Amino acid sequence: MKAMIVSGSRNPKGQTAAAVGALVEGLRGAEAEVVFLPAQTIERCRQCDERGWGDCRAKGSCVIEDDFAGLLAKLRAADAAVFATPVYFSDLSESLRAFLDRLRRITRHEAGQQGLAGKPAVGICVAGGGGGGAPSCALSLEKVLSTCGFDVVDVVPARRQNLQMKKEVLRATGKWLAGCPSSK
Ligand SMILES: Cc1cc2nc3c(=O)[nH]c(=O)nc-3n(C[C@H](O)[C@H](O)[C@H](O)COP(=O)(O)O)c2cc1C
Repeated sequence: MKAMIVSGSRNPKGQTAAAVGALVEGLRGAEAEVVFLPAQTIERCRQCDERGWGDCRAKGSCVIEDDFAGLLAKLRAADAAVFATPVYFSDLSESLRAFLDRLRRITRHEAGQQGLAGKPAVGICVAGGGGGGAPSCALSLEKVLSTCGFDVVDVVPARRQNLQMKKEVLRATGKWLAGCPSSK
């Protein structure tokens, strides 16, 4: 089983990374690659034509030549996907938003759905400041991942104040994901 983990945090030692680390522990030996989006070059969507569409709708691909295509290939090759984000303004971080904005567009075409449709996905949202907004962020994440065609098997909201407890939940989630029939 191979899990591809896409994180919208810029801090490999931060709270979102700690939450991801707990899930990876639970995967117990399954192959897991973590990519930190702020360290990648992911432009925002250009809304290419005058109607706001482009190759995404016509071909299921994106014209922008940056790190999006490489990440997409890794997601397609994985058995399960994990999307983690720090909670910003009760919502996704800008880097994850930019990535998922483009991902959902290419899935409007059958070619773009390949290797993504039905893939089990887990979301993680960590509110590391006051602690508010993780449930709203989880809702946004569930919505966009569903639009992309993933089988969203869980979204785990966490806040700074309950992160230790949620890490237990995430270890269990990882263990369960590794044994999940649809992720094998
Ligand atoms: C622009 C911005 C908005 C934020 N909004 C919230 C918020 O709505 N609720 C909250 O608890 N923390 C908020 N925070 C704090 C982040 O959730 C916290 O920095 C993050 O979980 C920890 O980041 P890391 O996991 O990348 O280390 C915000 C931080 C930034 C930079």
